[in-house]
Amino acid sequence: MVSLHTFYRLIFMQIFENKNALTDCISLFKQENKQIGFVPTMGALHKGHLSLIEESKKNNDITIASIFVNPTQFNNPEDLKKYPKTIENDLNLLKNTGCDVVFIPSVKEMYINNVASKAYSFDGIEHQMEGKFREGHFDGVATIVQTFFEIVTPNNAYFGEKDFQQLQIVKKLVEKENLPVNIIGCPIFREKDGLAMSSRNMRLSEQQRNAAPLIYQVLKTSSLLSKTQNLVEIYTFVNKQFDKNELLDLEYFTIAEEQSLQEVSSLKSTKKLRAFIAVNAGDIRLIDNISIPKKE
Ligand code: PAF
Repeated sequence: MVSLHTFYRLIFMQIFENKNALTDCISLFKQENKQIGFVPTMGALHKGHLSLIEESKKNNDITIASIFVNPTQFNNPEDLKKYPKTIENDLNLLKNTGCDVVFIPSVKEMYINNVASKAYSFDGIEHQMEGKFREGHFDGVATIVQTFFEIVTPNNAYFGEKDFQQLQIVKKLVEKENLPVNIIGCPIFREKDGLAMSSRNMRLSEQQRNAAPLIYQVLKTSSLLSKTQNLVEIYTFVNKQFDKNELLDLEYFTIAEEQSLQEVSSLKSTKKLRAFIAVNAGDIRLIDNISIPKKE
């Protein structure tokens, strides 16, 4: 016979705003030896997020998602103000995907009276790429992810590879802080024209949206070129593509080692390489990345 708690869970998606109510519910799951998968999000959900929920459902008894636009990871206050909010739609999508529990805390619930990040050190990977252009961003991400892990105590947590540097930072966070959770990276979800799915895409104008697939086209071509060309030739190719485009400003393009995220000086590395890109369409920042094949 199933418990009332299990019966209720099978029918409804539970929504919590209060962390104590959530932890009470989680302790019931733990008493029943349920394995918990966690998908942290900032809302404005798309198929990429839902693929993380699906992945969690495959490998856990309970899937918990959070929706929280974390103020401390925004270096630009305008970006925070304009971050899309589509809560009703998000809840419908989560329910239809079979998410069991959603946590939607307020800023006060998460930060009490001190909306500030802790200062972390992640062996230098926090200073590469996004770290150079978004001061304090990864301290903000790590602070909130650690707080969520402490509340939700998941067995597994799911992060998209679109934010590849974030994924590496979260893995380092878990290692350094000894957090008992497995971090699982999931593949990038793309629109039909190749644009990586992102909550920010919904802020693009029609013209910007039509221009944006160039980002992935350039990444794909760079990955192909890496078989025959050297780094300088690839960087020159990338710069040229964006110089010609009036709607997209290249912020950075870097080929780096996947683990250390250090930019490489040659493609003949024995380590796994990846190309990373950040582009501004007006005030909307888009990032993407692609794996670079090993040189034979
Ligand atoms: O990737 C995101 O949406 C956010 O950075 C995360 C992991 C939910 C932390 O706020």
